[in-house]
Amino acid sequence: MAKQAVKFEINLTYRCNHKCDWCNRLVDTLPIPDSDVSLEQLDAFCQRVRKDKIEISRFKVAGGEPLVHPHFLEALGMLSGLYRDGLVQWFWVLTNTMAPTYPTLPPGMSWRRSPPSSKNHDPLLISPKDLGFDAKFGFGERCLIQTLCGCAFEAWGYAPCALAGAYAHLLRINVWSPDPVWAGTRELCEHCIWTLPRAPRFRLWDLGREGSLPFPSGTLKQALADAQRDLVRFPRYQPSSRGMRRKCQEP
Ligand SMILES: C[S@@+](CC[C@H](N)C(=O)[O-])C[C@H]1O[C@@H](n2cnc3c(N)ncnc32)[C@H](O)[C@@H]1O
Ligand code: SF4
Ligand code: SF4
Repeated sequence: MAKQAVKFEINLTYRCNHKCDWCNRLVDTLPIPDSDVSLEQLDAFCQRVRKDKIEISRFKVAGGEPLVHPHFLEALGMLSGLYRDGLVQWFWVLTNTMAPTYPTLPPGMSWRRSPPSSKNHDPLLISPKDLGFDAKFGFGERCLIQTLCGCAFEAWGYAPCALAGAYAHLLRINVWSPDPVWAGTRELCEHCIWTLPRAPRFRLWDLGREGSLPFPSGTLKQALADAQRDLVRFPRYQPSSRGMRRKCQEP
């Protein structure tokens, strides 16, 4: 059977030079310290992709704002090796366009610009579990975020999606793995609106926008207050961990 290409996203840092309302990395409500991916971690990530010959149809460099990473250009230089090796087809670097200057990107990479004035963020931190909905996607069948953006890598390791890291800090669930992971866990996904099919998800967003559904919902409101008072510090990804030796699962 032909090998299936996957999608990948990296949260290079959770720091940002802006605070959009309802940022899905919680930049505006829950700043997460020590979130810069180190060059050593990035090197281990690239080695892993090469070793397992993971073919990536689209790779998004995200965050936070990737440009505020202290070694942004070195990081992109390392990642661009995957493009040169034919392991990545499309390489996008996301930005909020707030940086004073924009460097030339390595070959194969292009900017995806999204200025704050263009953003139309969906209401955030609405927990389906709080509202009595059954969790459906994310931990078995893929949710839309996993389908569109794939799984993620960040300072604490591999995550099932690029949104999970913020939720993990909020709910104090260690979601990361030293190996690529392609599925979330029920205990995390049941509090994420992307676990729902389209119709109820849009309905909840509409209610949130018009003000008839207060959010954050109960569990997440309490979790946010707790985390703002006392944020759990998860261990950072160690490049020498077993993740370097084990073969990753196919999605
Ligand atoms: C988290 S940002 C990271 C990259 C960069 N800082 C930026 O803003 O483009 C990635 C994308 O997620 C979008 N996003 C963030 N929060 C969102 C929300 N609540 N609903 C929909 N999109 C959201 C942003 O607008 C951006 O396009
Ligand atoms: S610019 Fe991007 S990362 Fe920063 S707060 Fe806005 S959406 Fe979040
Ligand atoms: S946390 Fe949300 S976006 Fe991530 S895999 Fe689970 S349902 Fe999907």
